[in-house]
Amino acid sequence: MAETEKVQLRRGLRDVYIDRTQISFIDGKAGKLLYRGYNIHDLAESCSFEEIVYLLLHGTLPTKVQLAELDALLKQGRKLPKEIVETIRITKNAHSMDVLRTAISALSAFDSDITDNSPEATLRKGIRLTAAASSIVTTHARIRDGKEPLEPNPELGHAANFLYMLSGEVPHPEDAALMDKDFVLHAEHGINASSFAARVTASTNADLHCAVTAGVAVLKGPAHGGAAESVMHMVNEIGTSDNVPTYIRDTLKGGGRIVGFGHRVYKTTDPRAVHLREDAKRLGERKGQPDLIAILEAVNEAMEPYCRKGICQNVDFWSGAIYHLLGIPTDLFISIFAMGRVPGWTAQVLEQFSNNILLRPLLTYEGEHDLPFVPIDKRS
Ligand code: COA
Repeated sequence: MAETEKVQLRRGLRDVYIDRTQISFIDGKAGKLLYRGYNIHDLAESCSFEEIVYLLLHGTLPTKVQLAELDALLKQGRKLPKEIVETIRITKNAHSMDVLRTAISALSAFDSDITDNSPEATLRKGIRLTAAASSIVTTHARIRDGKEPLEPNPELGHAANFLYMLSGEVPHPEDAALMDKDFVLHAEHGINASSFAARVTASTNADLHCAVTAGVAVLKGPAHGGAAESVMHMVNEIGTSDNVPTYIRDTLKGGGRIVGFGHRVYKTTDPRAVHLREDAKRLGERKGQPDLIAILEAVNEAMEPYCRKGICQNVDFWSGAIYHLLGIPTDLFISIFAMGRVPGWTAQVLEQFSNNILLRPLLTYEGEHDLPFVPIDKRS
């Protein structure tokens, strides 16, 4: 068609810039990631998740006083309304991400700021949703396992409280620190598919609960947030590190993909994976499960020729192993990613609202034109 010839089609919006941002910078060739100008390596080594929440939402690193204020707000936001706990009970047989999406959506009925899209109200809602997401995931995990949900522990930071509300035990400080770092590394990543969904939602002037609900829905797909879970399934399928070369060869020969590898933006090692790799190794030794790490290292080695072509390990390659070693059930892995990403989605929505424009691309039509209409009783 003439129309198709005129347009420049960019399937998958590959390499398309849709706006300007001040939130994060990704250099996919150099493997560089900045949040608000700060290098992810510095942030991962030196900042708590709470500091990152502040940084993403306010644009600057917090002072001690600002951090204490945010911490208090996050702790207040951990308590779920009883109706939300009931919603979780009703939907307990669904996947953790479906329950998270449903409960975040249902929280709109209990948020006094729901109709207010001002930056102040959106920020307040973002903090509350960041805190509530953790309680939703842990409450659901316990209910579906036949246990009673636990009250949040106000003595613990965000990551430690998450592990506590899941298991009922105050976590080892190193486990809590690792969980915290994982949340830091997952907090924001530009206009990925789920953040794009959140921004499209905000572009219609819908509220933050709608945008975060959309973000969770989009993150659920295996091409985006599901890879950590798939990596654990792959490890189980491989069995021992001796089987790795055959597994890689057969999978690639059959046209399959090696999960935890490849990224739309990174064409070198994902800088977030660098941190988790060392941590996963140490954790594997501390938990007496070095075999799991040996399999992952063998996969990494076997994939080296592909990494030279730009298909390198991504953040999810190691995060799944870490969650597993922390005793977290496999089907919660994507929800952990979602919990960490709520501040990123909120920052994206705040930025979209600050200079809003309806996100409405075009499709080039390739179907029939002007067909003669046939009434239903004349159709064969
Ligand atoms: N294993 C094997 N080959 C891979 C691959 C992988 N993990 N990822 C990409 N490729 C190959 C594709 O087969 C394709 O090859 P071809 O051009 O010969 O057909 C090429 O690389 C480009 O793949 P494409 O799907 O177009 O790239 P993308 O940028 O759209 O894909 C992902 C990005 C993440 C969807 C993709 O790398 C993938 O499916 N990875 C596995 C799942 C995963 O780890 N997701 C988490 C991302 S954080």
